[in-house]
Amino acid sequence: MNSKLDFEFYKKSADYILSKIEFVPEIAIVLGSCLGNLSEEIENKIIIDYKDIPNFLDATVDSHAGKLILGDLSGKKVVCMSGRFHYYEGYDFEELTIPMRVMHLLGCKMVILTNAAGAVNESFVAGDIMIIKDQIKLNGASPVRGKNIPEFGPRFFDMSNTYDKEYIEVAKKAAKISEIDIKEGVYFYMPGPQFETPAEIRAIRALGGDAVGMSTVTEAIVAAHCGMKVLGLSLMSNMAAGILDVPLTTEEVDETAERSEKKFRVLLKNILKQI
Ligand code: HPA
Repeated sequence: MNSKLDFEFYKKSADYILSKIEFVPEIAIVLGSCLGNLSEEIENKIIIDYKDIPNFLDATVDSHAGKLILGDLSGKKVVCMSGRFHYYEGYDFEELTIPMRVMHLLGCKMVILTNAAGAVNESFVAGDIMIIKDQIKLNGASPVRGKNIPEFGPRFFDMSNTYDKEYIEVAKKAAKISEIDIKEGVYFYMPGPQFETPAEIRAIRALGGDAVGMSTVTEAIVAAHCGMKVLGLSLMSNMAAGILDVPLTTEEVDETAERSEKKFRVLLKNILKQI
């Protein structure tokens, strides 16, 4: 348990970032491997390396960049996290509170969480985009366990509207405008870094999961705790283990992500326009 994580700890990160910008970002966007290049389109941008932000975490996964990009996108003031943090990298769940709490202290009222995930629902195909309507996290501790910090939110809090229904409708409308056939479903968290076994995927399906991935859920919990609205979008980078008779590889995940990046980008920009 990391007792250093008090309100002032997070505030130090936020104050540093605020000292570098002259606007309040409205929307935080966490770029998963499916949206790596989106930040190129941000205008009037200010880039801050994670490693320069006091008390922030530093990204350890190669393909993720480790930068905060702040500026304008589709007429909105945004802060993009290019590079996110996962439990499998060795962080405690408690440390994974840092990004969302800092985004909240910057003034963000909403976060768009994106990720690449394995398709568990057999009616999905690789390359599909799924709007997350709910999540299941049965593995590991809550990121907000330990002494509650009331400046962020109450000890016990509701998770029944975590993926905001209004934003789900906005995303569906944006998908229509973008001429994208959009899916909707439940994101099931697995800690990784190993991909799942076929038996685990059958269990996840029986429990109600439509997609499986190693990120997003802690961010959604922390955002819900501090009252930020959440929209979640998953790119189906592969069919989950055991559905097809082929082993899963990172190459396949990255390839599909790359192939679908443009579609994802168009959708995201249309979502921002509708908000
Ligand atoms: N399982 C877990 N995480 C993932 C997968 C998967 O099949 N694909 C992309 N991220």
